Amino acid sequence: MQHKPHKFGYSPCWGRVFYTLVTLGAKFFVVGLFTKAIEPVVFTSVAHYYALGQILRSRLLLDLARLLRKEMRVLGIETSCDETGVAIYDSDTGLLADALYSQVEVHADYGGVVPELASRDHVRKLLPMIRQILADTALQAGDIDGIAYTAGPGLIGALMVGGSVARSLGYAWGVPTLGVHHMEGHLLAPMLEDNPPQYPFIALLVSGGHTQLVSVKAIGEYEILGESLDDAAGEAFDKAAKMLDMDYPGGPRIAKLAEKGEAGRFRFPRPMCDRPGLDFSFSGLKTFTLNTVAKERGASVLPDEQTQADIAWAFQDAVVDTLMIKCRRAIKETGLKTLVIAGGVSANICLRERLEKALAKLDAKVFYARNAFCTDNGAMIAYAGCQRLMAGQHDDLTIRAVPRWPLDTLPPLQSNQSALASAIEE
Ligand SMILES: Nc1ncnc2c1ncn2[C@@H]1O[C@H](COP(=O)(O)OP(=O)(O)OP(=O)(O)O)[C@@H](O)[C@H]1O
Ligand SMILES: [Mg+2]
Repeated sequence: MQHKPHKFGYSPCWGRVFYTLVTLGAKFFVVGLFTKAIEPVVFTSVAHYYALGQILRSRLLLDLARLLRKEMRVLGIETSCDETGVAIYDSDTGLLADALYSQVEVHADYGGVVPELASRDHVRKLLPMIRQILADTALQAGDIDGIAYTAGPGLIGALMVGGSVARSLGYAWGVPTLGVHHMEGHLLAPMLEDNPPQYPFIALLVSGGHTQLVSVKAIGEYEILGESLDDAAGEAFDKAAKMLDMDYPGGPRIAKLAEKGEAGRFRFPRPMCDRPGLDFSFSGLKTFTLNTVAKERGASVLPDEQTQADIAWAFQDAVVDTLMIKCRRAIKETGLKTLVIAGGVSANICLRERLEKALAKLDAKVFYARNAFCTDNGAMIAYAGCQRLMAGQHDDLTIRAVPRWPLDTLPPLQSNQSALASAIEE
């Protein structure tokens, strides 16, 4: 069943306004009958005060104001991998609540995310977390105007959990539901901050599964300028950390260890920087790290602590330098003056500082989200979904997940087709 998008953006509140008007009318009529039997003057004043009291007590004025101002309050659900994230975003007042649960301990013994365990844990955690943020914000189901969930890319089972819950709640609550692209969520996360970037801009998406440079004209108007031909930057951090016997996620651990590292003891390669273009490759760097660790450890299991820190420093320096060189190139080539960095690796302090310094020389500025919104979270999905829901996009009742989904196939905001609908059509 395909809902027709409302020309002002679909909003379920009209049903509630209608219901409130009908019930108020009925109450008014009953009170009128009762008081009229006593005395006409008493009837008029009592009935008027009663009606006024009822209107003030009901949500009628609030709903009408929100409808006329085309506001929406959206529940966001993120379950693409090993984090369960939920949030409520209000287009008028901003982020109302968000909660995150990480499955890192569930997968710790296996050395990577086990898809089946991930799906089961999302099933266990998702509904209680939704109940919890509704309770924390003192909101009820009727206060939610739309639901956005991550429809891909990601692990199919994990995505299906979020999709099933979102679609079912949407159906039960009578509100529109929309599948959101996970990387669009990451890309828009800095919009949740106090001083958000202005369009157009260049986005560097650096996460566990992606490394992409994207030209962003507006929401849904994306052109991929370059991307990793093999490992993602976050994946390279995780693998390097594993070589030094550190747990997942490796990025923050390498960054911490690198603080004690000595600059210049090792020099790691800057892959693909000596040739034109904006693509990346991190698998060679991974092999270089493996060889360095093997050479330095000698007969023991690991190199000594200082050597480990020096390796971490050199590895981080190489990744950050490579990303910085390509970002600088993208800024020069496009003439754009704004760079947005998003995804887990954008939490890296060294990357932020190096980019800020390099781009200041080009008169360009760097924007990023607070650390909690660099990695997976529900807030970015609620925000991205809210923008598209307000533009009138929403999906039909089918529960769908898209494990592989190129970012540049997403429709613009003005499209009368949702992102998920266009992905299915491809
Ligand atoms: N401070 C940091 N420095 C470097 N890397 C970091 C830092 N913090 C997190 N990371 C890395 O970010 C990655 C997780 O980010 P994110 O949650 O965005 O990725 P993902 O959701 O697994 O992948 P994708 O979004 O591509 O599907 C991990 O690889 C982690 O090591
Ligand atoms: Mg992610």
